[in-house]
Amino acid sequence: MPPQTLSPETTHARLDLDGRAVDLNLVRGTEDECALDIGSLRASTGLITLDPGYANTGACRSGITFIDGEKGILRYRGYPIEELAAGSTFLETAWLLIHGALPRREELAAFNEEVRHHTMLHENFGRFFTALPKDAHPMPVCAAAVGALATFYQQPETEQSIHDAVVRLIAKMPTIAAFSYKHSLGQPFIYPCNSLDYACNFLRMMFATPCDEYEVEPVMARALDLLLILHADHEQNCSTSTVRMVGSSHANLFASISAGISALWGPLHGGANQKVIEMLERIREEEGSADRFLEKAKDRKDTRLMGFGHRVYKNYDPRATILKKTCEEVIGRLGVSSRLLEIAMRLEDLALRDDYFVSRKLYPNVDFYSGVIYKAIGVPEKMFTVLFAMGRLSGWIAHWLEMRKDPAFRIGRPRQVYMGETERHYVPMERRT
Ligand code: CMC
Repeated sequence: MPPQTLSPETTHARLDLDGRAVDLNLVRGTEDECALDIGSLRASTGLITLDPGYANTGACRSGITFIDGEKGILRYRGYPIEELAAGSTFLETAWLLIHGALPRREELAAFNEEVRHHTMLHENFGRFFTALPKDAHPMPVCAAAVGALATFYQQPETEQSIHDAVVRLIAKMPTIAAFSYKHSLGQPFIYPCNSLDYACNFLRMMFATPCDEYEVEPVMARALDLLLILHADHEQNCSTSTVRMVGSSHANLFASISAGISALWGPLHGGANQKVIEMLERIREEEGSADRFLEKAKDRKDTRLMGFGHRVYKNYDPRATILKKTCEEVIGRLGVSSRLLEIAMRLEDLALRDDYFVSRKLYPNVDFYSGVIYKAIGVPEKMFTVLFAMGRLSGWIAHWLEMRKDPAFRIGRPRQVYMGETERHYVPMERRT
C-alpha cells in the first residue's frame, strides 16, 4: 500500500507477536511519507528487522532532498530540479543544499570568492600524484587525494575549521580531478585560474597545456555546470549513506568524503555512466546490434542495460528527462554528429516498448544520457564518474553536516541475523582430518 493512502488520523501500527500487541509509532514526513519507528523494537521484543539493501529502511530524518520515485519528482530543499536546472548555478545549488535556503546576492558573491581563493593544492601534492601509476583510474586517485587533504589540514575541529574544510573541498575538488587526468596523460598540471568561474576553470585545467591556451566554449561550460547541479544530491543513495556511516564515527569530513568517492566508483552506482558509453560503443562497433544487445540485457546472467533502472524511480528519472534534452541541444550547438546519441535513443525507444523493462518499471536514469554529453564536450570516459563526484560532493557535505546536528544522532551500527556455525571447540592441528 503506498504510504499516501494512510489516513491522516493513523498514528501507529500494531504488530501481533504470538498474541502480544506491540505498538509502533508512525513518523510522518512533510510530504506525507510515513515510516514505522522501530527504535524500541529490540528493547521491547528482542527482535530486529532484516532488510538486505536497506530497501525498506529509513536511516534518518532529513530535510535536504525529496524524491517521489513513483511520480518522478526530485526537489532540493523544496525546489524542483527542473527549476534549479533552468535558473541556478552549481555553486548556488551547493550553497542551497548546505545552508537550506537560496543565498542572497552578497552571500553568493562571498561564497564564490571564498571558493576561488582555495582552488590551489599544496605544492607537495604534485609529488603525491606522481607517486601513483600513470594508468591508475582517476576515481581511486581522487579518493586518495581527498583523504590526503586531512593530512594537510589537521586543526582541531571547530565550527570555523569545518567551514574551512567545506570551502576547501568544493574549491579543490576540480583541481584534484584535473590533476589526476593530467597525470594519466603525462602532461604538466595546469594551475587554477581564479578569474574563471567553477566550470570554466575545471575545463581549462583539464584541456589547456603550457603551450596551448584553451578557450572555454560557453555551451560546454554551461552543460558541465548543469550536470553538476543534476548530480548534486540524491538523498540516501549508496555513496551518501557511506559518507554518513563513516562520519557517524566522528571521522573528519575529508575522510568521510573520500569513502563516499570510493562507494560512488562502483558500476552499479556512479560508475554506470562510464559503463553506458562502453555499452553504446560496443553496440556501435557491432553495427545495428541494439536489438540484439537488449535481448542479452534481458538474459540477466550476461549483462544489464546500463543507465536503466533505479532503486527509487519507478518512472522516468527527472534528471534523465533534462539530460536527454540537453544532450540534443549540446550536440546540435556544437555541430557534431553523434552516432552514440542515436544508438542511445534507439535503445531507449526499444526498451520502453519491451515488456521486460515495462513490467519491471525500468526507465533511463541520470547516467543514460550524461556520458553522451561528457563525450561531446571532450571528457574522456575514465573521468565521467569523477565529474559525478564533483557534483555529488555538495550533497555529501550537506548530509555530513545535517547528520552531526541531528538530535537523534547515533553512530551507524546495523545488526545482523547470524547464520554461521553454532559453538564448536578448537581442534589442535595434529587432530584435524
Ligand atoms: N537491465 C536489465 N535488467 C535490469 C536492470 C537493467 N539495467 N535493472 C534492473 N533489472 C531487473 C533485475 O534483473 C530484476 O529482475 P527480476 O525481478 O526478474 O529479478 C529487476 O529488474 C529489479 O532489479 P534489482 O537489481 O532488484 O533492482 P535494484 O533496485 O536492486 O537495483 C540498479 C537498481 C540501479 C542497481 C539496477 O537497476 C541496475 O543495475 N541498473 C544498471 C546500472 C545503473 O544504471 N546504475 C545507475 C543507477 S542511477 C545513478 C546512481 O544512483 O548512481
